[in-house]
Amino acid sequence: MQSGKKMRLGVLGSGKGSNFVAIAQAIQSGSLPAEVALVLSDMPEAGILQQARDRGISAQFIPPGAFRTKLDPTAESAFIQALQDAQVDLVVLAGFMRILKGDFLRAFEGRVMNIHPSLLPSFPGLEAWKQALSYGVKVTGCTVHWVDQGVDTGPILAQQAVPVLEGDTVTSLHQRIQEAERTLYPETLARLAQGPWMTKVRPTSNA
Ligand code: GAR
Repeated sequence: MQSGKKMRLGVLGSGKGSNFVAIAQAIQSGSLPAEVALVLSDMPEAGILQQARDRGISAQFIPPGAFRTKLDPTAESAFIQALQDAQVDLVVLAGFMRILKGDFLRAFEGRVMNIHPSLLPSFPGLEAWKQALSYGVKVTGCTVHWVDQGVDTGPILAQQAVPVLEGDTVTSLHQRIQEAERTLYPETLARLAQGPWMTKVRPTSNA
């Protein structure tokens, strides 16, 4: 494990990268004592890769293999290797749309975090804001949680409630939730970076 003060993040995403941008901005502004060591994606054209490169951060597409919802064993090894080579303290899932299990979770045990666009345990899985709207809940939100072997399960670290307003569409509700995510994720990471977790993960650190 790398020594030094800053928490080293490996960020995984499949989409446009608005959560990654919020994290990068929090680092830039000094509110999050961390650095993004590496960004990885399973999608060659993912916006998150470009967002990282625009900021001079190493970004790599790794072909996911033949499965639709998980990584094949070769891809899983490549993801693990890249993150280990980059000496990341924490793996941050920011819109990574494949389920990580087994070897990956063992390689980064207790060090994989995710953000999900609902108040878990309500509405796990895909397009959680659509599920919330069609169910008719009046409050939804977003959740930051540790990743375990389940789908959108694992101990909850932080949640932010978001109201569902009269006349909301799938798009307006999704935007409101994503706005909340952009505050919740950097704040949760900052709490971790400044708390006892870092000393546990990197005992040699003088942070
Ligand atoms: C985020 O809203 C995140 O909560 C969701 O993907 C979006 C990625 O957006 N993740 C999941 O649904 C995981 N179950 P981004 O690429 O703009 O950060």
